[in-house]
Amino acid sequence: MSEGIILEEAPDIHEQFQVTPPALMVIFGASGDLANRKLLPAIYRLTQQRLMPPNYIILGYARSPLSDDDMRQRARTSMLANPEVEFQNADWEAFASRLFYVSGDYDDAEGFQRLSERITTLEEQWNIGGNRLFYLSTPPSVYEPIVTCLGVAGLVEPAGRQSWTRIVIEKPFGSDLHSAHKLNDHVLSVFDEEQVYRIDHYLGKETVQNVLVFRFANGIFEPIWNRNYVDNVQITVAESIGVEGRGGYYEKSGALRDMMQNHLLQLVSLTAMEPPIAFDAKAVRDQKVNLLQAIRPLLPEEVPEYVVRAQYSAGTAATRPVPAYLDENGVASDSTTETYVAWRLEIDNWRWQGVPFYLRTGKALPRKASEISVTFRRAPHLLFDSTEGFESSVSQIDGGVRSTTQGLRMNGDSLSRNVLTMRIQPDEGITLKTLAKRPGPSVNLTPVNLEFTYGHSFGEPPDAYQRLLLDVVLGDSTLFTRRDEVELAWQRITQVLDGWRMQEELTANGRKPFRLPHYPAGTWGPSEADFLLEKEGQHWVTE
Ligand code: BG6
Repeated sequence: MSEGIILEEAPDIHEQFQVTPPALMVIFGASGDLANRKLLPAIYRLTQQRLMPPNYIILGYARSPLSDDDMRQRARTSMLANPEVEFQNADWEAFASRLFYVSGDYDDAEGFQRLSERITTLEEQWNIGGNRLFYLSTPPSVYEPIVTCLGVAGLVEPAGRQSWTRIVIEKPFGSDLHSAHKLNDHVLSVFDEEQVYRIDHYLGKETVQNVLVFRFANGIFEPIWNRNYVDNVQITVAESIGVEGRGGYYEKSGALRDMMQNHLLQLVSLTAMEPPIAFDAKAVRDQKVNLLQAIRPLLPEEVPEYVVRAQYSAGTAATRPVPAYLDENGVASDSTTETYVAWRLEIDNWRWQGVPFYLRTGKALPRKASEISVTFRRAPHLLFDSTEGFESSVSQIDGGVRSTTQGLRMNGDSLSRNVLTMRIQPDEGITLKTLAKRPGPSVNLTPVNLEFTYGHSFGEPPDAYQRLLLDVVLGDSTLFTRRDEVELAWQRITQVLDGWRMQEELTANGRKPFRLPHYPAGTWGPSEADFLLEKEGQHWVTE
């Protein structure tokens, strides 16, 4: 290797193994969907990759009366059906021997007593040493009783001086500011903030983490990442599926609570925050909190101007027929739950003043796509004339053809702007749209993409839960949301909810009728969302 630049060799991922401490994981809601579809496969894959220590075990707890073997059998069935799992009999046997189960109610002291006894026995048998992780993968209605019972059963205090106890809490973390605050108060009356890991699975996605690396490890982007160079930022999180059997849950949630409060506001934070002084939990989360604080608050009467909501009607999305939301199981026939939200927000700080952030998320859209697009201002001096059409004007001279000095003709302003798109999923990667001269005698400009794709460079990114579960065991909370962060996000979301409630009250009083816009499944949402941008001379980039 030449002197000067020393390329660091990629560390052997198996080195991690030595630092992952032994642990006992209790999964509440172990017989449920998330546990079988995401959590157990994630731990299985970590085990296959030798990222878990030999002495770890998983103890499921749920209401269903199952034996250890029943739990193993269920896990096996769902892993065999999971295309992301490379099922190997030997790996499975080793993994299955670590699965155990206790059944009980979530508010039953006796059940927690049995749980506590089983924990003690298994910790001794497996020489675990007292590290305990409690994962709440249950409906949120039982979060509080579980936390109470853990406290009463004496399971919260670390078992020894060298060991730890941590709790992982799934979303939804509350349903508005008040309930999130109350839940935080309750959890923190039993646990310390350092023990609490609030999950937002988007933060476990490699591509989401790469937003920070892209911004802060490359010298060339940060200087232009501000109001002087950026025209607008768009974040789209689109799904082609409808609510697919989750109507009961979704009715109480809607797109604003289900996606905007967590995943999209996290993406906004990472895209717009100031550089942290270190890549650690405190520094990163402090900056995210600063950014959330800078999101301009909305008064209830301002909400209709900045936020569009809508619901899908029947249609075909990504070649699959999707029934109308109102025809889904568990959905009220007159439901006004939104399956789509678009939100134009502003960030009041030096970096972003005046730059609109357009966010949208929805179900039953034409395709699955999570993307962040940063559109830059156009070149200050248009050397190439920008009028209609792509062709330069061509004149006939002495029977020959040559380009005139008018040069480029462009179709609209937007084509002449550079757009950097970070594709979170699928087809993970980054594209920078630039203009290039199409070969030929005339000056004919055309947009071309500078591309980076994860698949080519690194292969398939691992599932988000793998990374997050490992981080909990390692005690790194950088990719988890802190109390103040969750509550700030809820504060902004609650302002929108207040605006919607006011809209509905005015409608009920007959003062200002409001009709929820609808969009056919398989389209990019209602025309109101297009208008949100068109009135400012913009359009959605992702399509
Ligand atoms: C979850 C929402 O948090 O995220 C679901 O509750 C949604 O409604 C899902 O489908 C989307 O996650 P992903 O990783 O598929 O984009």
